[in-house]
Amino acid sequence: QEDQFKKVLSHAKEYGYVFQSSEIYDGLSAVYDYAQNGVELKKNIRDYWWKAMVQMHENIVGIDASILMHPTTWKASGHVDAFNDPLIDNKDSKKRYRADVLVEDYCAKIEGKIDKEVKKAAKRFGDDFNKEEFLATNGRVLGYQEKINTILGRLGKSLENEDLADVKLLIEELEIADPLTGSKNWTDVKQFNLMFGTKLGASADTAMDLYLRPETAQGIFVNFLNVQKTGRMKIPFGIAQTGKAFRNEIVARQFIFRMREFEQMEMQFFVKPGTQKEWYDKWKETRLKWHLSLGMGADNYRFHDHEKLAHYADAAADIEFKFPFGFKELEGIHSRTDFDLKAHEEFSGKKLQYFDHEENKNYTPYVVETSIGLDRMFLAVFSKSLQEEELENGTTRTVLKLPAVLAPVKAAILPLVKKDGLPEIAREIVENLKWDFNVSYDEKDAVGRRYRRQDANGTPFCITVDHDTKENNTVTIRHRDTMEQKRVPISELSAIIKQEVDV
Ligand code: GAP
Repeated sequence: QEDQFKKVLSHAKEYGYVFQSSEIYDGLSAVYDYAQNGVELKKNIRDYWWKAMVQMHENIVGIDASILMHPTTWKASGHVDAFNDPLIDNKDSKKRYRADVLVEDYCAKIEGKIDKEVKKAAKRFGDDFNKEEFLATNGRVLGYQEKINTILGRLGKSLENEDLADVKLLIEELEIADPLTGSKNWTDVKQFNLMFGTKLGASADTAMDLYLRPETAQGIFVNFLNVQKTGRMKIPFGIAQTGKAFRNEIVARQFIFRMREFEQMEMQFFVKPGTQKEWYDKWKETRLKWHLSLGMGADNYRFHDHEKLAHYADAAADIEFKFPFGFKELEGIHSRTDFDLKAHEEFSGKKLQYFDHEENKNYTPYVVETSIGLDRMFLAVFSKSLQEEELENGTTRTVLKLPAVLAPVKAAILPLVKKDGLPEIAREIVENLKWDFNVSYDEKDAVGRRYRRQDANGTPFCITVDHDTKENNTVTIRHRDTMEQKRVPISELSAIIKQEVDV
């Protein structure tokens, strides 16, 4: 697993997907730049989401609110008082960690032990092995599982009650070590607010303290009535938004999984009070379907229903994805009640109510939100697509099997040789196709090497112009995943590609 993750990191850099920010200055921790291919993949994921959420839903509209908001917003939302993570400092290494992440890591180690037991047993029992039965009956596995449940239960409870002494005790009792140094020498656990502060205004006396938004959601809540009125929206309706959010994450690790500057794709769905459970279930199902539509394997997703709920929620679940480092949260679906709108009413003194014509009364709508990290989705897609295949001739090929709809470049046009008029024909095909798709032209190296390069780049189609093209206006089109080649008329290329890359 670790190996796979290392491959993901180096491939992302080598093929122009993700670079470390300010790399020439040795980078900035947990901040990344999207490179020439990465920016296209990211845009395609964003568009795929936007199309599914806004274009395909008559009752959902989009907005683009500012990153900077009036500071009272974050008082009302609870972020000033409660957007904290418990932190623990290591005396020896002077490193700082999120206490919950340390405990989670520890549990992941125990999970690793369970995996080992399962693999051993599967080998021993062969065809007779039944995983479910083994997990439910094997004493050692049950012991491990119980330990994990106890630890997480205790952690959950102490975090909920803000009982930091108990978090510290848990870390000490389990003899959890600093992942970098192995040292167990911790100091106290403290609360740390994750919002980035900044100032508005030039003069020191009058400058106003602001925050960079830690979630996009609040931009939607404060615009709720403006959008509802000007868009003449009738409940139930949704407002969608994509944009940057900032969190001063401690122990920002795992590449673009947990970043300090990241992008969210959120949708707040405003419903009649009392109907929220129905909509919450509906959005859970709808969002899972969206993920499955990309064809990355149903086994790689699971729901995690929260038992411990945030102060504003009456139900919450994560869609977890199987990243190279295990199942982790990819998207959250939260039933947020009327908490946010009521809080903004209270702090602003303005009514944020909806007049229901059918019922002939005013009420504060309830909200069901779907919230996904664009960068996290990028990592999910990228890591699952990166594969190494053994070929029949004994060689291996590295192939980035991105869903065609998300691939940065849809087709590469390759003249077989750099002479005999083939480059000119290839260029002409580029000129025609570029109106519809991102395409690229490549004439360097033997065609086999160019195929491999495009495979590793994630390009779904290679179109090769050869000497027969001059005779009959046909080219070969090679499919990245099957490596099959077909001869087709140039005039049909656009339609063939469209069939695969259009949603
Ligand atoms: N408005 C609700 C909200 O912000 P959240 O669970 O804190 O909920 C939603 O965040 C999603 O944003 C997460 O499921 C994750 O995909 C993404 N996300 C959160 N923090 C992140 C970070 N530091 N880096 C990358 N993505 C992050």
